[in-house]
Amino acid sequence: MGGVSADEAMRRAIALAARGLGTTSPNPLVGCVLLDPYGDVVGEGFHAYAGGPHAEIVALAQAGERARGGTAVVTLEPCDHTGRTGPCSGALISAGVRRVVVAVADPNPVAAGGIERLRAAGVEVEVGIRAAEAEAGNLAWLTAVRRGRPYLTWKYAATLDGRIAAADGTSMWITSEAARIDVHALRGTVDAVIAGVGTVLADDPRLTVRNLRDGTLAIRQPLRVVVDSAGRTPLDARVRDGAAPTWVATVKEVGAGPEGRVELAELLAELYRRGVRAALLEGGPTLAGAFLSAGLVDRVVGYLAPKLLGAGPAALADAGPRTISEVIDLEFTDITPVGPDLRVTAYPRKTEG
Ligand SMILES: NC(=O)c1ccc[n+]([C@@H]2O[C@H](COP(=O)([O-])OP(=O)(O)OC[C@H]3O[C@@H](n4cnc5c(N)ncnc54)[C@H](OP(=O)(O)O)[C@@H]3O)[C@@H](O)[C@H]2O)c1
Repeated sequence: MGGVSADEAMRRAIALAARGLGTTSPNPLVGCVLLDPYGDVVGEGFHAYAGGPHAEIVALAQAGERARGGTAVVTLEPCDHTGRTGPCSGALISAGVRRVVVAVADPNPVAAGGIERLRAAGVEVEVGIRAAEAEAGNLAWLTAVRRGRPYLTWKYAATLDGRIAAADGTSMWITSEAARIDVHALRGTVDAVIAGVGTVLADDPRLTVRNLRDGTLAIRQPLRVVVDSAGRTPLDARVRDGAAPTWVATVKEVGAGPEGRVELAELLAELYRRGVRAALLEGGPTLAGAFLSAGLVDRVVGYLAPKLLGAGPAALADAGPRTISEVIDLEFTDITPVGPDLRVTAYPRKTEG
């Protein structure tokens, strides 16, 4: 009987955690593997949705008595507070777990303290196993909690020369159906989709998550947010069609920034208060420029079509830089072909907030 090492079990726990992607907010993704004293897997679990059982509780329920004297391998520090469910630290102690292996400590002061409680009860705790991998899997949630605002991805679709429309304003469709299906999958991983009123007036987008072939809506829809200083969103705009929750964020509600437009840091703070941990900024170029110049974009996902326009508006309007030394520096982390197009992912080297 070989048994499984804590390191191998953590790899499995990280994979399990990822199954909750898009449904756990405002909670994190968490995976847990329980090993008996011989190192055999006796329970597995992940946190599937807010209000549902935590990963540790799912795994403990499977393991029953076999958890006694064993090891719990968890991607995030077990919580120590009673929210919608009881503290996981207490459940692990009651189940007689002897050792707990944690990848990442919980940055959320409300839930943290599990490690301390476990140690105080005589449970051996190790922290930091596969920490980088677990951090990467929970990047949006961890960044959001540390900054007190949603993790923001700016997504755009453009020609290879960075144009989002032709000189006469026509723009449908620059990228392929495959790329648009991919965008809907991306929307399915976030809690809110954000667009400027300029885009709503020009394109009247739905901003829902749906099957492009038959229009069927996904069960879980992100909040649709229109950034609209003066409330110009028409009453019959598609974003108000009731297919998903919508918030038209005006200066009156959020407050004004320097140019009398919606204050973007405050908008994100309010979204965080409403439970949004990951948001997708879908443009257009004016709003994207404003978010980028405020240092509020955490990830850029560009869909590039093998097409050239030469003239027409660019994907990004004024984003701050006046001279080359002020350029917004990014790092490419992924380039994936999607149908005939490319999906390029990059991270700004520096963000604020
Ligand atoms: N290819 C793509 O990926 C893509 C995606 C989206 C849009 N588009 C295209 O983009 C075009 C629309 O672009 P756009 O630049 O006019 O629209 P936009 O960026 O969606 O909206 C700009 C508007 O947002 C409002 N806003 C509120 N607070 C703001 C703030 N703090 N900073 C900046 N703006 C703020 C402003 O209007 P108020 O002052 O009235 O609030 C501003 O005029 C359309 O033609 C559309 O097709 C393309």
